[in-house]
Amino acid sequence: MLVLGLETTCDETAAAIVRLRPDGRGEIVCDEVRSQIAEHAAYGGVVPEIAARAHVEVIDGLVRQALDKAGVRVRDLDGIAAAAGPGLIGGVMVGLTTGKALALASGKPFVAVNHLEAHALTARLTDGIEFPYFLLLMSGGHTQLIAVRGVGDYDRIGTTLDDAIGEAFDKVAKMLGLPYPGGPKVEQEAEDGDSSRFDFPRPMLRRPNPDFSLSGLKTAVRLEIGKLGKPEKTDIADLCASFQAAVIDVIIDRARVGLRIFRETCGAPSAIVIAGGVAANATIRRALQRFSREAGLRAILPPAALCTDNGAMIAWAGIERLRLGLTNDMGFAPRARWPLDEKAIRVHNGKA
Ligand code: KG4
Ligand code: ZN
Repeated sequence: MLVLGLETTCDETAAAIVRLRPDGRGEIVCDEVRSQIAEHAAYGGVVPEIAARAHVEVIDGLVRQALDKAGVRVRDLDGIAAAAGPGLIGGVMVGLTTGKALALASGKPFVAVNHLEAHALTARLTDGIEFPYFLLLMSGGHTQLIAVRGVGDYDRIGTTLDDAIGEAFDKVAKMLGLPYPGGPKVEQEAEDGDSSRFDFPRPMLRRPNPDFSLSGLKTAVRLEIGKLGKPEKTDIADLCASFQAAVIDVIIDRARVGLRIFRETCGAPSAIVIAGGVAANATIRRALQRFSREAGLRAILPPAALCTDNGAMIAWAGIERLRLGLTNDMGFAPRARWPLDEKAIRVHNGKA
């Protein structure tokens, strides 16, 4: 089975082709990504209108490039998958419409993929692990602890009450005058910094519900920057290192509580898995590796390029759905919001 995957929900345009091997494992045949960093840099963040336009400009060429690299034609594919949300709606429409058009013209099955599900299933592409597993999904828009029970079967154990982890990294970077995208820059600066210089708060530590809250930590960083006036190079490094250390303490503490709940409700996980752009952070990866070892579990840390947004994860989610006979029709509408665990959202809304 050979599937093309398209990703346009945020600021990367991506097209990839993934093959399902007879042994059930996935093989990335090609994975083309075109980042829009240059287009958004001057604004210090993603501008939705610019993003949508940039996706339109490159997506056709990128699909062509993917097919050429793989040495296949559209007629050789067994299906076409496109991210249909959640994300910036203008961008989502570009990838979704392109995917539908290719499917319609070629008569191939079409799969509308949830971008979060694609992050959640990446560990099965890279490591072929079994359900259920404990997932930490940490991206620019989401911070979730999830019990991944099966394709389309997710229990959200914890989430953030305010900023997503990636968003907190990006905001701290902005306060320090570091260029967009901030996460990787904060990590770079932190390398030379003293993580014990600033004693930042660890919000939610030891709370029984495994949720996150990061806005207080962000405010603490802002106050410290204010006290310093104009931070010098070493101040910036120390601020980044101290912030990152606080975030890691929070992640590990929340993961510990989340894992306990997982074991009570789902039994033994096959592994601890990380996904989303923040999972590209080497210090966070090391901390989670340590945590998994202590918990007696396998840690699955997909390579950084498969943690940040990419097309291979969309193609793989397409394969996971296609082999279960799950396809979508041309009426599938783009979704700005699309929670993985719709049950949890209903409960939440019921209370509200
Ligand atoms: O998953 P992703 O590529 O896009 C979303 O779906 O949001 O995640 C992007 C987020 C951004 O907030 C970015 O700053 C953060 O992931 N990020 C990082 C690192 N690389 C990307 N945060 C911390 N350290 C990194 N190395
Ligand atoms: Zn993402």
